[in-house]
Amino acid sequence: MYNVLIFGASGSIGTQTLDVLKRLNEDYKLVAFTIGNRVEYVDKILNDFKDVKAICLKNEEDVELFKNKYPNINFYAGSAGLLDILDDKSINIDIVVNALTGFAGLLPSIKSLSLNKILCLANKESLVVGGEFITKLLKEGKGRLYPIDSEHVAIAKCLYNKNKNDIDKILITASGGPFFDTPIDEFKNITVEKALNHPTWKMGKKITIDSSTMMNKAFEIVEAYYLFNVDANKIEPIVDRHSKVHSMVKYKNGDIYLNVGPSDMRIPIYYALTFGKCDKDKFDDVEINTYSNYHFYQMNYEKFPLINYGKYIIQKRGNSGAIINAANEECVYAFLNKRINYIDIKSIIDKIVAMYQFIDNPSLDDILRTDHEVRLLVNKLIESK
Ligand SMILES: NC(=O)c1ccc[n+]([C@@H]2O[C@H](COP(=O)([O-])OP(=O)(O)OC[C@H]3O[C@@H](n4cnc5c(N)ncnc54)[C@H](OP(=O)(O)O)[C@@H]3O)[C@@H](O)[C@H]2O)c1
Repeated sequence: MYNVLIFGASGSIGTQTLDVLKRLNEDYKLVAFTIGNRVEYVDKILNDFKDVKAICLKNEEDVELFKNKYPNINFYAGSAGLLDILDDKSINIDIVVNALTGFAGLLPSIKSLSLNKILCLANKESLVVGGEFITKLLKEGKGRLYPIDSEHVAIAKCLYNKNKNDIDKILITASGGPFFDTPIDEFKNITVEKALNHPTWKMGKKITIDSSTMMNKAFEIVEAYYLFNVDANKIEPIVDRHSKVHSMVKYKNGDIYLNVGPSDMRIPIYYALTFGKCDKDKFDDVEINTYSNYHFYQMNYEKFPLINYGKYIIQKRGNSGAIINAANEECVYAFLNKRINYIDIKSIIDKIVAMYQFIDNPSLDDILRTDHEVRLLVNKLIESK
């Protein structure tokens, strides 16, 4: 029996995790969840899952409202609540699904592993910003980590029963996003609506913008590095416009293993929650002829230079992931709120990387300070424009 907590239950990954839990047998019980602003999900989730005993909401006022409505449930609020809920004595959590967006996911990931939980991780930013901390916790503790990203689940499948020394390349596929065919001189005219129109995946807004700039792929390169512990030079992006080939591993003997399947995040979520199982009866099956038209493209680094930050973060380490992540998050939200143009995202991130102090061997406090200060700096730059 596994007691499950979902961080970010109202989001794209969170709601799909709820759907997967319904398809799993009674061995899995949802006992706790967290939601940000979309509190309209609370009643529905409680109606569908009767074992919930603890909930965290972002806003104190929402907590007051729901406390009265559900007196038998323990409520928590804000970012402190995201950590306190893990200590709730009325629930004995086994599995934590971290489906928060951005830096908000870091401390919940770290605390889950410190408490030796099984962490099913969609929040790739946890590894981008805190890869070194998470690796140490996994080495020293009893916590376990299962990725939820489709590419990393695909890589795990291609690596199954293989010797890591035999790997020649890990090829992380990218859809190419909405601007793969857009000429570079038209990037200045990219609107929020166009950038949110992802060709193959329906996801939260932040990751959708990151997919269009390829910062998402940069982050996935870092994620692959920490998850599979392979040399950064062996990790390369490659474009599959259909998002049907979820990633590939090329071995030194010339064999290429690829994982093919529908663009359905519930499959990697199921794989993570069951520690490596697939079940074709629970989701759409693969009709091989649908995917027979394989064609891969090279990544266009000139058009999508932000992808270079993946290898940069791996090589530089220190607080470089925290700097780039915070700058990116602030720029993405500024773009979504129409405070900056699409092409400003890259120029501001580049400026911040050049300006902000690099720390070689940061403490967790250094990382938190970096995140906070970089956000202030980005907003100062935006306001001074
Ligand atoms: N979506 C995908 O297909 C996909 C695929 C692979 C990996 N991922 C990764 O999974 C993570 C989640 O992505 P998503 O697309 O599911 O995002 P999303 O739809 O925006 O959902 C994010 C969730 O986190 C909550 N949240 C965000 N900031 C919060 C904060 N400061 N405090 C409390 N709750 C907060 C949101 O609450 P409210 O919405 O209620 O405010 C929501 O429940 C990201 O790291 C992304 O890179 C996503």
